[in-house]
Amino acid sequence: MMKKKIVFLSGAGMSQESGIPTFRDSDGLWENHSIEDIATPQGFERNPTLVLEFYNARRRHAKSVKPNWGHDQIAALEKKYEVVVITQNVDSLHEIAGSTKVIHLHGELNKMRSVKNDSVNFDCYEDINLGDLAPDGGQLRPDIVWFGEEVPKMEMAVQEVAEADIFVVIGTSLQVYPAASLVQFVYSSVPKYIIDPKKPSGISNSSFVFIEKIASEGMEELIRLLQND
Ligand code: OAD
Repeated sequence: MMKKKIVFLSGAGMSQESGIPTFRDSDGLWENHSIEDIATPQGFERNPTLVLEFYNARRRHAKSVKPNWGHDQIAALEKKYEVVVITQNVDSLHEIAGSTKVIHLHGELNKMRSVKNDSVNFDCYEDINLGDLAPDGGQLRPDIVWFGEEVPKMEMAVQEVAEADIFVVIGTSLQVYPAASLVQFVYSSVPKYIIDPKKPSGISNSSFVFIEKIASEGMEELIRLLQND
């Protein structure tokens, strides 16, 4: 029998229990920097060292954390379902937990690319410094999607969402577009769940079952709800 497809859209709340702060909660990750300074191409042009340092620090920290029970439960669902994880997170915790199909909408800390070419990337496990050049001679930068830049994986993500038999939003405030618009591509008859201790304001659609819990506990609840599925 064909496995049902369960599609997750995850955000910063997914990794909160692993010790990575979210963006828009009070202990947000921007660390006294404005979004314009560290997450836009203009910010990078103005002060590339600051931006590279910011992501170097994120990358170093990400190396020190582990997936949490929420990530683990999503990975384990592959026994029963075809699981697709669309994540806005730039960490690798879904993969480390064992999820095999992960789409990183906003790029990855462990990838870098030339400022001259957004279609070729390279593995990146160490710091990137000003003066580090790609083979094409361009300065290397994190392969992370900044505000105002294209989201190249969006088309692929829309396709997956449109094919979902079950759809789950977990740990995202749904305030950043186009990622947040993915919820609009789910078929109306598809069961939809949100796991978040705080209901994302972007969700007016009452067809979502709201599980008001942190990721690990919310996943336990979801699995209970899916048991008769
Ligand atoms: P936000 O910080 O906007 O939202 C985090 C969400 O997680 C909120 O709804 C919280 O209530 C919820 N949350 C907090 N702790 C949680 C927990 N333990 N379990 C489950 N949920 C929890 O983060 P995102 O929505 O991911 O972009 O932000 C989207 C994008 O904004 C990010 O990908 C980033 C940023 O600009 C880039 O880096 C390009």
